Amino acid sequence: MIGRKLALRLAADGVLAGRAVSQLSLVDVVEPARPAGAGLEVVTRTADLCDPDTVRALVAGRPDVVFHLAAVVSGEAEADVDKGYRVNLDASRLLLEAIRAAGPEYVPRVVFSSSIAVFGPPFPEAIGDDHCTAPLTSYGTQKAIVELLLSDYTRRGFLDGVAIRLPTICVRPGTPNLAASGFFSSIIREPLNGREAVLPVPDDVRHWFASPRAAVGFLLRAAELTAEELGARRALTMPGVSATVGDEIEALRRVAGEEAVARIRREPDPAILRIVDTWPGRFDPRRALELGFRAEADFGEIVRVYLEDDLPVAAAGA
Ligand SMILES: NC(=O)c1ccc[n+]([C@@H]2O[C@H](COP(=O)([O-])OP(=O)(O)OC[C@H]3O[C@@H](n4cnc5c(N)ncnc54)[C@H](O)[C@@H]3O)[C@@H](O)[C@H]2O)c1
Repeated sequence: MIGRKLALRLAADGVLAGRAVSQLSLVDVVEPARPAGAGLEVVTRTADLCDPDTVRALVAGRPDVVFHLAAVVSGEAEADVDKGYRVNLDASRLLLEAIRAAGPEYVPRVVFSSSIAVFGPPFPEAIGDDHCTAPLTSYGTQKAIVELLLSDYTRRGFLDGVAIRLPTICVRPGTPNLAASGFFSSIIREPLNGREAVLPVPDDVRHWFASPRAAVGFLLRAAELTAEELGARRALTMPGVSATVGDEIEALRRVAGEEAVARIRREPDPAILRIVDTWPGRFDPRRALELGFRAEADFGEIVRVYLEDDLPVAAAGA
C-alpha cells in the first residue's frame, strides 16, 4: 500500500532528493501496480525477495536509492513464525548483502520501513528518542534486528541506511489485511463506505498514527537527508498523532455523523487486545521533527487525507 503510493508520488514528481528520477524499478511478490501517466521509465518485476538470485538481479541495476518496504505484517508474522523471519529478516539481510557484494564503490541510500513495534512495554508517558528497543512481538523483533544490521552496514560503509519507524498508518485504503492493527483503519474506512466495521478493543485504547500521505513524505525525506544531518544513529521514530479509539470515533462522527458511527459493531477480541496492549500510545520524536519529518496535527486531519486521497477512488470502484 505505502509502496504503491510512493511510486505514484515519485512518478508525479519526477524528482527525488533534488535529482531527476531516471528510472523507477518496482518489485513485489504480487504484480506491482504501474503508476499511471508516469513521465519516467518504470520497470516492474514480480519476484520473491527471499530468492538470492532475484535480489542480486535487482541490485545489479545499481539504483541510487532503495526503498525497502516488503514485509509480512504483524498479525501474519505472529501466526506464521517461519514466514515472518524469512521475509522480514532473511530477505532484508539478503538485500543488504547483495548491496555489499556489488562492490565498495556502490553505496546507495537504503530507506527501510521499520515500525514503532520495535518498542515494548513498560512505556513512559511519552517515548523519547533514547528509549530502548525491546519488542514483544516477532514482527517488532524482526524490524529491530534489521535496524541494527542497517546501522552496522552503514558504519562499515557498505551502504548508506536510514530506518524510519512508522506509526500505524491510518486510514489504510482498500480491503482489510492481516495486521493486528487493521481495525484502527476499518472503523473509519468501512463506515465511510457504507459498510459495517468490527471494533475488537475498548474505546480508551491509545495509539500512534499517521496518514499514508505522511508516510510517503517520511520516505522521501529519509531519502534526501545527508549523512551529516543523520549522524551515527540511523533509526528514527517518526512523528504522528496520539489518539484513542474514542478520538477516532469522534473524528468520524464530525465528518459523517451518527449514522456512520452506528456502523461500528463492538465485538471484544482478547487475542487482539493482548497484542495491542503491548503497543505504544505516545512519542516525543524530537530528532525526526528537527530533521524536518512532518505528520498530521490531529486525527481529524488524518480522516480528511483519506477523504481526499482514497475515498473518491473507493467510490469510483464501487
Ligand atoms: N501500514 C502500517 O501501518 C505500517 C506501520 C509500520 C511499518 N510498516 C511497514 O511499512 C512497509 C509497508 O507497509 P504496507 O502497509 O504498505 O504493507 P503492505 O502489506 O501493503 O505491503 C508490503 C508488500 O510486501 C510484499 N511482499 C511480502 N513478501 C514479499 C516477498 N517475499 N518478496 C517481495 N515482496 C513481498 C507484499 O506483497 C506487499 O505488497 C512494511 O515493511 C511494513 O512492515 C507499515
